[in-house]
Amino acid sequence: MNDEVINIKNEALSQIMDSISIDELDRLQLLYLGRNGKLSNLIKKLKSLPEIKRKEVGILINEAKNTVIKEIVSKKNSLKDSTRVWFDPTIPGIKPQTGHLHLITSAISEISSVFERIGFVRMRYPEVEWDWFAFEALNMPGDHPARDTLETFFIDTKPHPKFGQMVLTPHTSSGQVREMKHVKVPPIRMVNIAKCYRRQSDVSHTQMFHQFEGLVVDKNISIVNLKGALDYFAQNFFGKQRKTRLRPYHFQFTEPSFEVDITCDICNGNGCKVCKEGWLELGGAGMVHPIVLKNGGIDPNVYSGFAFGWGVERVLMMKAGIKIPDLRILYSSDLRFLRQF
Ligand code: PHE
Repeated sequence: MNDEVINIKNEALSQIMDSISIDELDRLQLLYLGRNGKLSNLIKKLKSLPEIKRKEVGILINEAKNTVIKEIVSKKNSLKDSTRVWFDPTIPGIKPQTGHLHLITSAISEISSVFERIGFVRMRYPEVEWDWFAFEALNMPGDHPARDTLETFFIDTKPHPKFGQMVLTPHTSSGQVREMKHVKVPPIRMVNIAKCYRRQSDVSHTQMFHQFEGLVVDKNISIVNLKGALDYFAQNFFGKQRKTRLRPYHFQFTEPSFEVDITCDICNGNGCKVCKEGWLELGGAGMVHPIVLKNGGIDPNVYSGFAFGWGVERVLMMKAGIKIPDLRILYSSDLRFLRQF
């Protein structure tokens, strides 16, 4: 009976090879594998075989059935491919979907390119940082109330013997002393743009946000240089007609310290419903505190410097005039929101 199985199988395979339509293949499937198909009928004959032969022939029939079905399926697929509609090269193509940069990512590159044009170098410092760089070295001792207001995330790990606890950077100012130690001998002109973390989450705060920190240290650096750099940024990032102003403030790591305001885009500084008095708040700045310079290994009697630290999300909203009812949507990966930009 072995020969009979092999013959039927070969007969089936040659017919499959010669077939030219799906209908024909359907007919062959029925002819060989249907309930009364040629291969199925062989199974019925097994009963008449002696016990020892039965298993061997059974296996052979099964193999034949599997081969035949496999060939039918692959022949059907190849027929489908070749009967596809003719490709018409004159039909306009379907544009592949392309993504784009996240609006914060493009704001970051725009901010760094403005500063790079006046000689700043983009730097990055750790986002997971030691307390010393984030606070102590910036003249904010452990019991200082300013440290509470930053609502820092502390990491539950063994403190460093010299640098203290591990924290998620609450501000990019932690890069100031790192930069001084890295450069060693001024001049320093860095812009450090990085993720910052604070325990705050509401419509106008996200736990992770971005800041950009400018730091310039050299001989004879004064408030005039700070004001010049801020005006340059304001005019190149926001628009030629914008002006900045410095308002006295307090930070532990700068002396004197300022809040920087920019003229309102809507009323051009004359006062309107949005800004009230003509000015919008940008962020903090000041002249680097001598203690901070000393902590960075720089002699405050020879060198002086200025620093500023602002929120990327904040300046972007102010520039684009985007009103986002809940800032957290920026990081929610909602494509309906992101595709608008
Ligand atoms: N680090 C300050 C903040 O997060 C901002 C700042 C930076 C102020 C540099 C002065 C100088 O609020």
